[in-house]
Amino acid sequence: MPGLHDTRHYHLHHPVDLMTEFTVCESLGSPRSTTLRALGLGKPYGAILGDRLMEKGLLRQGARICEVGGGYGSLMRGLLAAHGAQVERVVMVDLSRALIGVQRKALGPWKDRVRFILGDALEVLPALSGADLFIVNEMIGDLPVWTGLDPNRLPADAAAVVNRYGLAVPETGPFHFNIGAIRLVEALCRKGIPAFLSEHSSDPIIPREMPFLAKGLDTNGWPREIRLTAHSEYTIRFSHLEQVARALGRKVESGSLLELIGYCSAEKARFIFNARACATDEQALTFEFLDHVREYRWLILR
Ligand SMILES: C[S@@+](CC[C@H](N)C(=O)[O-])C[C@H]1O[C@@H](n2cnc3c(N)ncnc32)[C@H](O)[C@@H]1O
Repeated sequence: MPGLHDTRHYHLHHPVDLMTEFTVCESLGSPRSTTLRALGLGKPYGAILGDRLMEKGLLRQGARICEVGGGYGSLMRGLLAAHGAQVERVVMVDLSRALIGVQRKALGPWKDRVRFILGDALEVLPALSGADLFIVNEMIGDLPVWTGLDPNRLPADAAAVVNRYGLAVPETGPFHFNIGAIRLVEALCRKGIPAFLSEHSSDPIIPREMPFLAKGLDTNGWPREIRLTAHSEYTIRFSHLEQVARALGRKVESGSLLELIGYCSAEKARFIFNARACATDEQALTFEFLDHVREYRWLILR
């Protein structure tokens, strides 16, 4: 039976607790993070992402950044602490009033440059102006999903999106379709400025140096439900987002989030991942991180 999964009620009315979810931002959110140290990384995630965006020519002097769904503000805090001199202005868009409050505190040191907009990204984005880079980190899995679709009897609105962009569907169903993430990518493409997105994917890219991380994974899978406290998220079929962005005239780049953050201890990872028996806290943290984040992808729209 087709349905619509929507977390907007949860984000509007529940006290969102990101510590009950595994987020890369929080795991690698502070220079004192034990996971950061176990992985041998020298900087928090926001600083690392800032480095990568600079290397790719997307974070330039005078940057005006819009972050959508910024959670506790940890990514932006790390980015501004490391690269604040580059950034002229920041706009944080979020559906949760409580999380906007947390972000306001986290970004206190930069308060003259940061503005907050409480609202649904799918409604706010079309009206937003003045940004030259979007960051959307681990947020699109929260957007609406059409669930339980039969590939041979698609509802008319689903068939219209699938046909418009020539999207693949599985041979047999039922399957789930990331309609909210597709709508957000459409909105980002219409803005005509670059965007960075990352999320838990259903079609992961495995780092070339670490083929053992593909063990037991479907690298061409369909969105699956992840049950969390008081709500669920869905993994994202990134190949659909890439196809939509290309059809709308954007250039796309995508890859493994593990590679983007610069985790490169392949030999250590092979041992820990294959043995699955962790003798130390460091090995246990590394295993937990690799096992989860191996499915994460990033996507840049230019
Ligand atoms: C899983 S959290 C991720 C937070 C942070 N970006 C991170 O990586 O840890 C999802 C974030 O998106 C926000 N969010 C969810 N649905 C949204 C929507 N429709 N519009 C704007 N923000 C939304 C939530 O309030 C939360 O801040």
